[in-house]
Amino acid sequence: MKCVDDFRLRFGKQEVVPIIIGGMGVDISTADLALEVSRLGGIGHISDAMLPTVSDRRYKTKFVSEKQKQYKLNILEADKSIVQFDLAQVAESSRLHVSKTMEAKRGDGMIFVNCMEKLTMNSPRETLRTRLNAALDAGIDGITLSAGLHLGSFELMKDNARFRDAKLGIIVSSLRALILFLRKTARLDRLPDFVVVEGPLAGGHLGFGMDWAEYDLHTIVAEIVAHLKAEHVDIPVIAAGGIFTGTDAVAFLEAGCAAVQVATRFTVAKECGIPAKVQQEYFKATEDQMEVNNTSPTGYPMRMISTSPSIGAGIRPNCEAYGYLLDANGSCAYINAYNAEVALHPDEKKISVKEKTCLCTHMRNYDCWTCGHYTYRLKDTTHRNADGTYQILSAEHIFHDYQFSVDNKIKLPAKQ
Ligand SMILES: Cc1cc2nc3c(=O)[nH]c(=O)nc-3n(C[C@H](O)[C@H](O)[C@H](O)COP(=O)(O)O)c2cc1C
Repeated sequence: MKCVDDFRLRFGKQEVVPIIIGGMGVDISTADLALEVSRLGGIGHISDAMLPTVSDRRYKTKFVSEKQKQYKLNILEADKSIVQFDLAQVAESSRLHVSKTMEAKRGDGMIFVNCMEKLTMNSPRETLRTRLNAALDAGIDGITLSAGLHLGSFELMKDNARFRDAKLGIIVSSLRALILFLRKTARLDRLPDFVVVEGPLAGGHLGFGMDWAEYDLHTIVAEIVAHLKAEHVDIPVIAAGGIFTGTDAVAFLEAGCAAVQVATRFTVAKECGIPAKVQQEYFKATEDQMEVNNTSPTGYPMRMISTSPSIGAGIRPNCEAYGYLLDANGSCAYINAYNAEVALHPDEKKISVKEKTCLCTHMRNYDCWTCGHYTYRLKDTTHRNADGTYQILSAEHIFHDYQFSVDNKIKLPAKQ
């Protein structure tokens, strides 16, 4: 019976254990988690979501308060078009996070950064150009393009000295999206180095509509593997979404995938950025609390625990400080939903906005409990303590469980 360790992901001459920990913003997939995975010989991700904010917290910069001070007179305005990011600060926050992570890297694995196109930051093209190039300049091993079709993203990096040596890939949820992307990259004579195929059971935003349950990862992977083979295009395909055990992973590796990308099991690792108290909510969550809703202002459905504090909260939009989801015109669906609710209840101090959520503030504060579908199984991966809480795991334990387990077994950690 095979285990994941019988396989390797190859990039040219470099070989890694075919386990990738997916990017989880905002700072859920921390540098500590990525470093541990790289030490163990796999691929870890950091995320570039809201990096100026993350940089303030981790590296004592003052990007958020400076931006808030600059635009404070706009706080009560619905029109946020003047609220722009300072591109030099965006670049500096990427440089800090990426270079500090890469300097600390040990082992034979790799560290990639996850870049979401939907983080439009009131100037989609220029902020994305800045983020991508700053990560390359700061020495990241690779970039995973996500949350969007990224039809112009390779173009934004094409003049970078590392454009052809860094590993560049994309997350897609359909063959159609992949074909569109490949057509664009062919013009630059630069194929992606990997393609992550993410199915409907993943955490975060989904590349499906509310009919997500009608799709199945094995079917989409088979379609993409067959297409690439027929076109004689050799790009490693990486399956993601709902791969909960080593045995689940082996099934994809035997079906032609070069690796798997996993995340949910690592949300309860001590190296993960989710605060310990919230990690207990992930452990406690039940199957009927797994919810896919439309509260994200991005327009993509998002999976979260139904008790997530972000759902129905009615906080004032905080775009002067954050504003990561402002589109090219300075709008965000949450601002509209919030203003409509205020207009309906002008005398109420506290309102509830059900339709959309202020994702920047809630993700930043770990109050949007986004999760993969199998979060309700996390309680089966550890011990229950005498006080009713669950024992937090180490990333090493979870990684090795994926790497070596067979027969759908999940190894419990040593009892603390
Ligand atoms: C808490 C959480 C946050 C996530 N955030 C992001 C993100 O910011 N960007 C992204 O591309 N994918 C994100 N994902 C998706 C993961 O990177 C990964 O591809 C997917 O969840 C794998 O499926 P699994 O969680 O069932 O193992 C997130 C997943 C989780 C569980």
